[in-house]
Amino acid sequence: MPLLTWNANYSVGIKKIDDDHKILIEMINKACASIEQMEEQKVLKELVVDMRQYAMKHFSREEELMEQYDYPDSESHKKLHNHFIIYAASLDNMKDSEKEILEPIKIFKYLADWLRNHILVTDKKFGAFLIDKGIK
Ligand SMILES: [Fe+2]
Ligand SMILES: [Fe+2]
Repeated sequence: MPLLTWNANYSVGIKKIDDDHKILIEMINKACASIEQMEEQKVLKELVVDMRQYAMKHFSREEELMEQYDYPDSESHKKLHNHFIIYAASLDNMKDSEKEILEPIKIFKYLADWLRNHILVTDKKFGAFLIDKGIK
């Protein structure tokens, strides 16, 4: 079962942000599923690296829009993005043995919960601000 599934309720009203969120959710689900299926470490590590890189790209895209439109809550929003990146970095310590898989799964569950909450609260607030500025 996927950790998280995008639905219209998650829309922040800005297409390119929604598209990013859909991709990021898919990447988190895919990497977590590969742990559960005990895929090769090499494959798994690549998925984790890709997911983190995509998250960083997505966060900078949002942060560029914040700069561009002088978003008043940009500092606190950016701090939340940093939290995700720092937490996701703990996936670098994944071990190869079977009994060590619980820890990364726990981390992915945390990241999925974080993302759900971040989209529904923090990004929606930012989306509403952008819509107000006439951005689609
Ligand atoms: Fe976002
Ligand atoms: Fe965000």
